[in-house]
Amino acid sequence: MRYLEIAGKKPLCGEVTIQGSKNAALPVLTACLLGDGPCVIENCPQIQDVEDTCALLRLLGCKTSRMGHTVSVDASGVEFSAIFCEEAERIRSSVLFLGALLGRMGEAALPYPGGCAIGSRPIDLHLEALKKLGVHFFESLDTGTLRKERAGETVPEIAAEAFTKDLQLCGAGIYANAPHLHGACIQFPQPSVGATENTILAAVLADGETLIENAALEPETEELCRFLNLRGADIQRERGGRIRIFGKKTLRPVRYRLDADRIVAGSYLLAGAACGGSVRFRNLPMEQLASLLAVLSRMGVTVTQDGSMQVQGDLLAAGDVVTAPYPGFPTDLQSPLLAALCLAQGESRICETVFENRFRTAEELRKMGASITVEGSCAKIQGRAMLQGADVCAPDLRGGAALVAAALAASGRSRIQGYDYIARGYEDICRDFQSLGAEIRLTDSGDKKVW
Ligand code: UD1
Repeated sequence: MRYLEIAGKKPLCGEVTIQGSKNAALPVLTACLLGDGPCVIENCPQIQDVEDTCALLRLLGCKTSRMGHTVSVDASGVEFSAIFCEEAERIRSSVLFLGALLGRMGEAALPYPGGCAIGSRPIDLHLEALKKLGVHFFESLDTGTLRKERAGETVPEIAAEAFTKDLQLCGAGIYANAPHLHGACIQFPQPSVGATENTILAAVLADGETLIENAALEPETEELCRFLNLRGADIQRERGGRIRIFGKKTLRPVRYRLDADRIVAGSYLLAGAACGGSVRFRNLPMEQLASLLAVLSRMGVTVTQDGSMQVQGDLLAAGDVVTAPYPGFPTDLQSPLLAALCLAQGESRICETVFENRFRTAEELRKMGASITVEGSCAKIQGRAMLQGADVCAPDLRGGAALVAAALAASGRSRIQGYDYIARGYEDICRDFQSLGAEIRLTDSGDKKVW
C-alpha cells in the first residue's frame, strides 16, 4: 500500500510545469484506432489511465510505444473488437472504445466501464446516440448468452450470426454491432463529455452527415475534434453547442501535441491559495480556467498572464460556487476548492450539480479540523485559520488531490492513503510540490522511512 506523507504549513514558492491533459489524452489515444499508420501523441502524461488505454489498444492489435512523454500508436494491425480485461473495467474512459471500435470494425464488445465512484455515472446517453447512428445493442449477462437488448428475450442464435467468432467467447458486458453506420441527428437532453466523444468517434467514419445538438463544450472534447480534423476528418463546431460531422472513408496518421491539463493546473492553483506563497506555473491554460480564476480573484488570489500566482493577505471566502458543464466551474475542481475554502476567512457554499457523490472528501477534511456541513447537493464551509495534519484516505482522484492541498496547508504531519487514485491523474504530485519547497513524499507501507 503506497501512501503520501506530508509535513505541512510551508508557503509554496518556485516554478512548476503543468503536465499534459489526461482527459484529452484518453479520447485522442482511443481515436488512434480509427485509421492505419503511426500517430504520435506528444505531451502525453505518464499516468495509470494512459497506460491502461495503451494496454487496451495493444489488446486489439495496435502497436504502441512510449519515449518519455511521447506515445506512438499504430493501429494498422487491429484485428479484434473486444476489450475484456482488468484495464477496461478499471477506467471509465474505456467506454470510448465503443464508438471507436464501431467506427473501425463495425462491432464492439466491452465490460461495463469503471472509474472513480463519484456518482451513478450511467451511459444511457452514449447508447441512445449510437443507436441513432445504426448501432444494435445486445447485452451478455454470462459468457455465451447474448440477449437482444430491446426485446429482453434470449436469442443466442441471432447473436451468433451477428458477431464474429471472437466476440461470442467474451464475458458479461456491452455488445454492439453496426452493419451500416450512418449519419443522424442527435439531440442530447444534457451535455455529456463522454457521450459527445463516443458519438464523434463513431460518426467520423460513418456514411453521411451527423448533427449533434447540445454537445459538450469541454476543451478536451475540442481537442478530440482538432486531432481528428488533422487526421482528415470533417468536424465543424457551430454556435450553441452544435457539432456537424461529415463522414469520411479513411483517416491519415499525424503527430499531435496535447494541451496542458486544466484540472491539474486548477488543483495546484488551489493548493497554492491554501498554502500561500508565490508560484509560477509553466503552461498554465488561463483561458480554460476562467471560471476558477474568477473564484480565486474573489478569494484574494491574483494570477497574471505569465502564470504567476500570488495570495494577497489572508485568503477570503468565495461566497457561492456552483459546479456546471464547461464553461461553468468544473466538477473536477470542486474537491480542491473545498479544501482551500476550509482555510479562507468567512463562510462559503459549494453546490454540486454534475456528480452526486462528490462530497466524500468533506468527511476526510473534517478529520483535519475543517468545518463543513453537507446538506443534499450543497456544502457549507466555515473557513478557519488553521487545519491540523491527520491520517486521511483519498476517496477518489480529485478528492485525493484536495487532501494533498489541505495537508500541505495544515500544521503538523499528515498521511494520505489511496495514492493509487491520485496516480490515475497526477503524473508525480510529490515531484511537483517538492519543486515548490513542500515536504511531501511517497512511502510504501513496507518501508521503514522516518522523518
Ligand atoms: C468526463 C471527465 C470527468 C469529468 C466529467 C464532467 C473524462 C475521462 N472524464 O466524465 O473527469 O468530471 O466529464 O466534466 O473526460 N450522464 C448521464 N448519462 C450518460 C452520460 C452522462 O446521465 O449516458 C450524466 C452523468 O451522470 C453526469 C453528467 O451527465 O451527471 C455529466 O457526465 P459526463 O459529462 O458524461 O462525464 P464523463 O464523460 O463520465
